[in-house]
Amino acid sequence: MPATSASAEAMYEQMKTKLERVVPDVELRIKAELASRIIKLKKERNAVILGHNYMEPALFHSVPDYTGDSLELSRIAATTDKDVIVFCGVRFMAETAKILSPDKTVLIPSPKAGCFLAESITAQDVRNLRKQYPGVPVVTYVNTYADVKAESDYCCTSGNAVKVVQAIGADRIIFLPDEYLAANVARESGKKIIFPTRTPRPDVTEKENLEYGLIGWTGRCEVHEKFTTEDIENVRKKFPEVVILTHPECSPEVVAASDFSGSTSAMIRYVAETNAPQYLLLTECAMGDNIAAENPDKEMLRLCSVRCPHMNEITLEDTLAALQETQYVVDLDEEVRRKALRAVERMLEIG
Ligand code: 13P
Ligand code: SF4
Repeated sequence: MPATSASAEAMYEQMKTKLERVVPDVELRIKAELASRIIKLKKERNAVILGHNYMEPALFHSVPDYTGDSLELSRIAATTDKDVIVFCGVRFMAETAKILSPDKTVLIPSPKAGCFLAESITAQDVRNLRKQYPGVPVVTYVNTYADVKAESDYCCTSGNAVKVVQAIGADRIIFLPDEYLAANVARESGKKIIFPTRTPRPDVTEKENLEYGLIGWTGRCEVHEKFTTEDIENVRKKFPEVVILTHPECSPEVVAASDFSGSTSAMIRYVAETNAPQYLLLTECAMGDNIAAENPDKEMLRLCSVRCPHMNEITLEDTLAALQETQYVVDLDEEVRRKALRAVERMLEIG
């Protein structure tokens, strides 16, 4: 056990009240020591720490000033008066913070925290689609890099995708890059969807083409694509009263078979505000631990070995090093940033 300072001891006691059933005691002591050093340095550096809901429990419940989903954290990044933003999340989230707060130093604790979905599309892909569908507005999911956002008209997150599509009100919209989110949005907004890279139909008539209200891409999240309707059936057989929550990056079949689908924060609120005999979350698995820690009176079933490998890169050790060494600085080309800002601001205006 490391020698603990008074502040580390206080941090240990604070973390223990929430995490003693989730994190082994020896680990909790080590993490409390790290967390107390981070909090001290955070004050000295006039930094704010933003923590995505997928952060591992000891980090999530200790150092962030704010936790939330992508939409909530981008709103905070836009308004902070601190000099430094440490983004405990993945790169596209830290980039969104930089897009909104160009004068701040934005740090991501690990350069390896990417996103499989964000890597599924390039700026050139968006330009090609624009050529193929001239004049059709482009909405890109926040899980994309800044250069892709810069080619887009609107950004959206899982928390407002349907709202953004409805607010645009166009007959046809290009919606990128998540195939499943796009299909879920199509279902909710009553639109037909086509994936031109998967089903190129040279014979398709212009009239037929116009029937497709959404034009999608075939990116997927490597975590959410793993959940199946068989998983749901098996759990419901054993626990008939279970309430099943899904993230809209799950397939439309999985979402349709669940009881509630929403952003990471919407799922957290749903569990806090309802009273079911059991809950099952079909999303990244650290969030299940975070919800279990917050709701000791609720039974959370676990079907989870699916940790996002990118979110998993962000540790308390790296967060401390980020503040000590001012690493890893997120910088964007100014023209790309300004163009991406238009899309992000339009999203924030819609809500
Ligand atoms: P939220 O915007 O719902 O927090 O989701 C982000 C994400 O990466 C989900 O996989
Ligand atoms: Fe990307 Fe999926 Fe990880 Fe979210 S859970 S950051 S979409 S890889």
